[in-house]
Amino acid sequence: MTYDFDEVIDRQGTNSVKWDYRKDAFGRDDVLPMWVADMDFESPPEVKRAILKYASKGVYAYFRRPATYYSSIIDWVSDRHGWNIDRDWIVSTRGVINAINLAVLSYTSPRDKILIQTPVYSPFYSAVKNNNRELILNSLIEKDGYYTMDFEDLEYKLKDGVKMIILCNPHNPVGRVWNLEELKRLEGLCKEYDVVLISDEIHSDIIYDGHRHIPIASLSSDIARRTVTCISASKTFNIAGLDESVIIISNSKLRERFIQTMEGAGIGGGNIFGTMATEAAYSYGVNWLEDLLIYFQGNLKYLNKRIKESRAPVRFHMPEGTYLVWLDFRDMGICGDDLTKFLIDEARLGLNDGRGFGEEGDGYMRMNIACPRSTLRDGVNRLLTAISRI
Ligand SMILES: Cc1ncc(COP(=O)(O)O)c(C=O)c1O
Repeated sequence: MTYDFDEVIDRQGTNSVKWDYRKDAFGRDDVLPMWVADMDFESPPEVKRAILKYASKGVYAYFRRPATYYSSIIDWVSDRHGWNIDRDWIVSTRGVINAINLAVLSYTSPRDKILIQTPVYSPFYSAVKNNNRELILNSLIEKDGYYTMDFEDLEYKLKDGVKMIILCNPHNPVGRVWNLEELKRLEGLCKEYDVVLISDEIHSDIIYDGHRHIPIASLSSDIARRTVTCISASKTFNIAGLDESVIIISNSKLRERFIQTMEGAGIGGGNIFGTMATEAAYSYGVNWLEDLLIYFQGNLKYLNKRIKESRAPVRFHMPEGTYLVWLDFRDMGICGDDLTKFLIDEARLGLNDGRGFGEEGDGYMRMNIACPRSTLRDGVNRLLTAISRI
């Protein structure tokens, strides 16, 4: 490996949500934070260099995204995911959640039905509720820790007038990378029931051996026509603090409506550093990412081995993508606030409470393994020691 992901970087004192706001989230600041979905690694050196180069000029005035920014995105999406996109299809926003909210405002009206597949990342719920739309839940089916879509329930709900689906692919928190068959079935239903599809593909570069990310909009011109695809270099290259994401909308009518909503909210311009970092990451970050994926798979193997060897009553299915692990504690016989309290006060671990992803998440916790192996070892030791004391 060329890159050293074993190096421990002290993120305390950097206004990091994950490290510096533990007390707000967990009531104490001695928990090992393995929650917020960012990484404890430096970004690729080329990203850092691009930022430092621009920063050294000392002038941070109005700017425009250069042609090279767009070509870096087009090449990345084509090389990594086999999808050929045009420059004109790209709209940049201040984050994917920003884009999802803009899409909700652009294509639906108050009280329209919007469907999400739960358990899922909580801002999906708020994007619907905060904009006064009706939330329709389509629970995923779980079997031995492996999740699939409930197409029967999905179709039943679509028949009842759903206007929009917000898809999470790869799925946070359950770690599925939806396969061709699943995406094709979803495509067919979107067409049959004339639904706009928002496809959040922010985790699409974190895909493990044996799996392939398929941008749903690449399947056919019909699904492309009704899809808004959201990607970002933020998860892949750890630049979430730079507030830059890439929204791909091939249908000019949908795109114009989206841009109108942005303009109506006075959203324009952009962030110089987010732009520079995105371009550098997509242009030069591929080798770093390949090493990172090997490292993550090592982390996952380590976690699996330790849990299996300990025979602790904790289960998880290996994620197919994302650096998030959906830990199932239901065999421990505690759930709800008792489980949360146990993990914080006994294990001193800061994980995301599964209930934050929906009611299906009771008895689960989401663990972020995007950290050096030594941090992960510390986390696993804390967890297993606390369990052994019960
Ligand atoms: C599925 C998903 N979408 C969006 C985001 C956040 O995106 P952004 O920071 O660009 O708003 C996350 C962050 O964890 C996520 O997991």
